[in-house]
Amino acid sequence: MSFLTSLFGKKEQAQHEDFIFVDMHSHLIPKIDDGSKSLDESVELIKKLVEFGYKKIITSPHIMGDFYKNTPEIILGGLSELKQRLKSENIEIEIDAAAEYYLDEWFIEKLNKNEPLLTFGKKYVLFETSYMNEPAHLHQAIFSMRTLGYTPVLAHPERYLYLYNDFSAFEKIYEMDVLFQINLNSLMGYYSKPAKQFAEKLIDNKMVDFVGTDCHGMRHLNVLKDTRASKYYNKLANLNLLNNTLLS
Ligand SMILES: [Fe+2]
Repeated sequence: MSFLTSLFGKKEQAQHEDFIFVDMHSHLIPKIDDGSKSLDESVELIKKLVEFGYKKIITSPHIMGDFYKNTPEIILGGLSELKQRLKSENIEIEIDAAAEYYLDEWFIEKLNKNEPLLTFGKKYVLFETSYMNEPAHLHQAIFSMRTLGYTPVLAHPERYLYLYNDFSAFEKIYEMDVLFQINLNSLMGYYSKPAKQFAEKLIDNKMVDFVGTDCHGMRHLNVLKDTRASKYYNKLANLNLLNNTLLS
C-alpha cells in the first residue's frame, strides 16, 4: 500500500468512526405520540440505531397539553413493554425514557405545582417550543426549571423561526444556562436550509451540548446514514458533547 493510499484509507476510516454512543431524543414508544406506530416498527428502528453504533437510547415521547397528554405512568409503561420485546429478540442495547416537554400552559402548571418531571442524566429536562412564535412564558419556564434544580435542554434550537432574525437571540437563551441539543439531520438540510445554517453556526460557536436523532420513523434514519458522512457531523467530534456522559 502506498503512503497516499494508506493516508486516504485512514481518512476514509476516520470519517465513519462512531463517536456518539447515546441518543437522547427520539420517539420510539409506540402509539403514544407521532413517532413509532407499533412495537414491530420500534424494533426495526432500534436495530438500525444499534447498527449505527449506539449503545444506549433515552427515548423522549412528546408531552403536549393539546395533543399528547402523556404521563410518566404511560411513558414508563410503554418503555417496559418495549424492553421486554427487545429482550425476547436478544437485541443488545440499553434503553431508557424521559420526555420532550412542549412549553405550554400544561407544562407551566407542572412547574408551578412542582410535579416531578421525567429527566435524564443530571436532571436534564428536554423541552421544545412553538416553531413560529416565542412563547410568552419562555424566560419564566427556564427560570422555574433551574430554581427546581433541573437543567433545561432546548430541543433543536435551529428549528425555531422566532430566533432567526439575529444570532444574538440564540446567545441570549444560551446565556440563561440552557443547554442546546441540535438534530443531527439538520446538518443535511432535512428540515430547511436555515435550520442547516443555524445548526452549523451553533457548532462553529461551540454552542451545542447534545445531539439527537429526533427519530420518529425510518425516514429519519435513512437520512442519518448520509448525515454521518457530512463535514459538520465530523466537526461534532471536536465539541465536548454530553451524549456519552449518559452511558451508565
Ligand atoms: Fe422530538
